[in-house]
Amino acid sequence: MDWIDLRSDTVTLPTAEMRKAIFTAEVGDDVFGEDPTINALQDTVARMFGMERALFVPSGTMGNQLAIKSHTDPGDEVICEQDSHCFNYEGGGPALLSGVQMRPLPGRCGAITVEQIKSSLRPTDAHFPRSRLIVLENTHNRAGGAVFPVEEMERIAVFARDRKLAVHLDGARLFNAHIASGVPLARYGACVDSLSICLSKGLGAPVGSVLVGSAAFIERAHRFRKIWGGGMRQSGILAAAGLYALSNHVERLQEDHRRARSLAQAFAAVKGVSVDLESTQTNIVLVDFSASRWSGAAATEQLKQDGILAIAFSPTRVRLVTHLNLTEENITRTLEVIRWRFQGES
Ligand SMILES: Cc1ncc(COP(=O)(O)O)c(C=O)c1O
Repeated sequence: MDWIDLRSDTVTLPTAEMRKAIFTAEVGDDVFGEDPTINALQDTVARMFGMERALFVPSGTMGNQLAIKSHTDPGDEVICEQDSHCFNYEGGGPALLSGVQMRPLPGRCGAITVEQIKSSLRPTDAHFPRSRLIVLENTHNRAGGAVFPVEEMERIAVFARDRKLAVHLDGARLFNAHIASGVPLARYGACVDSLSICLSKGLGAPVGSVLVGSAAFIERAHRFRKIWGGGMRQSGILAAAGLYALSNHVERLQEDHRRARSLAQAFAAVKGVSVDLESTQTNIVLVDFSASRWSGAAATEQLKQDGILAIAFSPTRVRLVTHLNLTEENITRTLEVIRWRFQGES
């Protein structure tokens, strides 16, 4: 069966043109710093965000965990949003790898405010952990791809600098935020001490993330990347896919956003089913079935019977994600299934 795969934007396959870029990539030993394509990717991404240096890493998880490790010492506290990826989906990495304590705060559409951060700071006293790092996520996965408002990020940046706290941005889908909001990448870069972007989500590369920050920060992260076994040799074949994606797959994200919006609106029109249209700003759609006769699992199974793959995100919610490997016909077909299968039977 030819599935319409809306489980995640990580399921994309490299395009023919991207494979050509991989095939012709110049490579060298990156553990010796000699892979020209890796170096070009790192320089390109650092420049895009107006930051000093960048480091290619195998995954978004490694980017976030290296950032936490490089900004903190064991016993420190890291402030984050309670539904954030680094707190929920990275295997307890902050405790295991960095020996830090997480301080999760409830966000609105995935965003926390400077006031919340202020009131969660620990006093300087031997009883308390040391507040050291703030992690933000933009766009926010569990909040349905909502964009973190840049003005709030800027307020947080001013406060953090004043209190000597570091700020890391989990920008796994930051290019989606950039395209949806029109905020220049360098403006995001100016708010934070480090950020990580994923090449293998909306951008459609097969593997890889890039961690960006100051020269001193990247030097520290580079050391831990090696210790954690993330030093790769002729990885320029992966960087070539990333460079191709950055040149060719950023502007087209608006198409993913338009398609996600149309799916969200179709689900929102179904009786007993709700979608937070305020949060649906990018390529993720979270559909809430709690007032319908479907559970998240039953709705996912119903979609599957019609050839559509989605993820049951909670007992009552289903996540659908648009991406580069979908066609207009796939979206039209999904809209038909929503209208005829769900609207007809709610
Ligand atoms: C917001 C966010 N951050 C980080 C990651 C981790 O990326 P990876 O799967 O490459 O480790 C993900 C993956 O889905 C994500 O959604």
